[in-house]
Amino acid sequence: MSKEITFKKLKNLLKNSYVPYSKFPVSCIVKMKNGQEIFGVNVENASYPAGICAERVALPQIFALGLNEKEIEKISIMTSSTGFGSPCGICRQFISEIIDNNVVIEMFNINKHLGDFKIDDFLPFQFSSEELK
Ligand code: THU
Repeated sequence: MSKEITFKKLKNLLKNSYVPYSKFPVSCIVKMKNGQEIFGVNVENASYPAGICAERVALPQIFALGLNEKEIEKISIMTSSTGFGSPCGICRQFISEIIDNNVVIEMFNINKHLGDFKIDDFLPFQFSSEELK
């Protein structure tokens, strides 16, 4: 999928976000190696901390759908920022549990593609299951 098509899909997906409080839509598409796409948008709540980020709406569906996280090819994220809007700290930790460092995280702001990254770029020295052994 070209960056242009991904950009359009993410931008369109922003419209599905539920953001009455921040008015800051975020969208996320998890692309599987078989071509399947799983969508997420941020969903806020009157009890603010109960709101959830787009990344954490998209990624859990992999398990609910019975898919294998090893089959993730790419994660694409768009924030409504005009600068470098990147995944929040909780999402960085959440993503690090599910994907390896070979999976591309493609970042977009409201205007353009910002770059392709890996989870280690966003969260070095991540806390993982290794620590619990
Ligand atoms: N948000 C996301 O959906 N993903 C992120 O990684 C950054 C923040 C959402 C949470 C909230 O609904 C809004 O953006 C403003 O913080």
